[in-house]
Amino acid sequence: MASDVAMLLGMGFTVVVLGLSVLTLLVRRDLAPAQKLAGSRQVMIGGALGLGIFAFAFKLAVIFTLVMAPDWTTRALLRSQAGKYHISRMTEVASTPGLAVVSPWQALPETAVRPTDSPALTALGKRLFHETALSGDGTLACVSCHDLGRGAGADGRATATGIAGQVGGRNVPTVYNAAFQARLFWDGRAGSLEEQAMGPILNPIEMGMPDAAAAERALAANPDYAAAFRDAFGDERISFERVARAIAAYERTLVTRDAPYDRFMAGDVTALSAQQRRGMALFQSLGCILCHQGPNFSGAATVGFMKRPFATLDVRNVAIAKPFDLARDRGRAGKDAAVGVWRIPSLRNVALTGPWLHNGAVDDLATVVKIMATVQIRAVVGDAGADQLATVAWSPATRSFQRVVRKHVSEADVADLVAFLKALSSDRLRSASDEARRSETP
Ligand code: HEC
Ligand code: HEC
Repeated sequence: MASDVAMLLGMGFTVVVLGLSVLTLLVRRDLAPAQKLAGSRQVMIGGALGLGIFAFAFKLAVIFTLVMAPDWTTRALLRSQAGKYHISRMTEVASTPGLAVVSPWQALPETAVRPTDSPALTALGKRLFHETALSGDGTLACVSCHDLGRGAGADGRATATGIAGQVGGRNVPTVYNAAFQARLFWDGRAGSLEEQAMGPILNPIEMGMPDAAAAERALAANPDYAAAFRDAFGDERISFERVARAIAAYERTLVTRDAPYDRFMAGDVTALSAQQRRGMALFQSLGCILCHQGPNFSGAATVGFMKRPFATLDVRNVAIAKPFDLARDRGRAGKDAAVGVWRIPSLRNVALTGPWLHNGAVDDLATVVKIMATVQIRAVVGDAGADQLATVAWSPATRSFQRVVRKHVSEADVADLVAFLKALSSDRLRSASDEARRSETP
């Protein structure tokens, strides 16, 4: 972008200098002989006129830059975040002119690992992620609920089961790509992986450690950890805060960039089926993308434009949501609120991490999509007549009629959307979970 602007300013400057010279010559020729002006006054008049022209040209250049800038800014942002972003491919999805320039579709950055995440720190984090000594009764590790293979980073259950078989109230979200989330947990109460990692260890119904000191003592009992902490931190001191730092560094390596969608973004148009591309277009035209936005398909992500981390889930009078008791837990809004407020979750690998939604009550992805379309888009889902879609409403406030046209999402559209969501599944995680399912069914 900088080079584009420099080029434009360079061009503008040349034009201005040329104009200025021509003008000075004209002024000299026209004014000087008749008026017999003194040399200095000639220069002054010429200069004044020239400055006027210069100011005018400068204004034009600024206006032009401002008009063009949003375009460059978007492209530069997309380019910086997107790695192998291919703008030309976007027109394949929906041939809307102009879409290519401000495309909302983005690829994940190459990595989430930070320069300070040394290999020793990450290796320690990996070990701690699998460490059952961090739970009150020595039975659970992070990986017990966040199964990195067949579970795609979650556990496949409706809600989590903690120590002594205690069942929690919320579904286990995947740890894959959590590194790109700016808000963690369903209600977004943690702002970083470091902050998040301390939660489950001390949570009485998850890993159930009485306090930080108990966790530190449990690790110190294993002499191997002294060397691992020295490699990672420079000295052997085991602290709860260091545990969290190491686990967070490891979690930043748990990134999936091998979904069909990613291959599509890298320029392979054949990576998505026709149905998936229709679903992708619907995801955009219906407005799913306004919440599930950017490369991690979440408004609460560190990547993308992060406009909207939270959204309400207003299931009042929504028949399709009735069986799932989605209004009992109000998340971020607190129990006295009328409607729940939730962090907008990432949709990467979503097809692999069912059952879905904060309470894991919905075990069919098509039903989740229907709930979203009804609750969040206010669309009419399923078969709908023209009279259902367009209604005329009387507004007492403005004393006028308003025609309200609601969006329509047919059963075929739902299938297309589900197909697109499957394109967000990592190839590696999908084959791991397929394999696990095959070995379960004899
Ligand atoms: C007993 C099961 C269980 C264990 C053990 C567990 N978690 Fe979780 N994890 C959950 C549940 C349930 C949530 C969602 C809780 C909520 O949103 O209120 C969660 C949320 C998370 C998230 C947030 C993901 C997101 O997208 O917001 C991360 C990251 C995470 N856990 C990492 C860990 C780490 C690290 C450990 C080990 C220190 C761990 N978990 C141990 C059940 C578990
Ligand atoms: C207004 C913002 C908003 C819009 C628009 C929106 N969603 Fe969501 N979506 C959310 C929130 C918030 C949740 C989490 C709700 C919960 O768990 O209670 C969610 C959850 C989901 C989930 C489940 C994720 C999981 O891991 O369980 C899927 C799938 C999903 N949305 C798909 C869609 C689709 C498809 C569309 C378009 C038809 C859409 N969303 C439109 C905010 C939105």
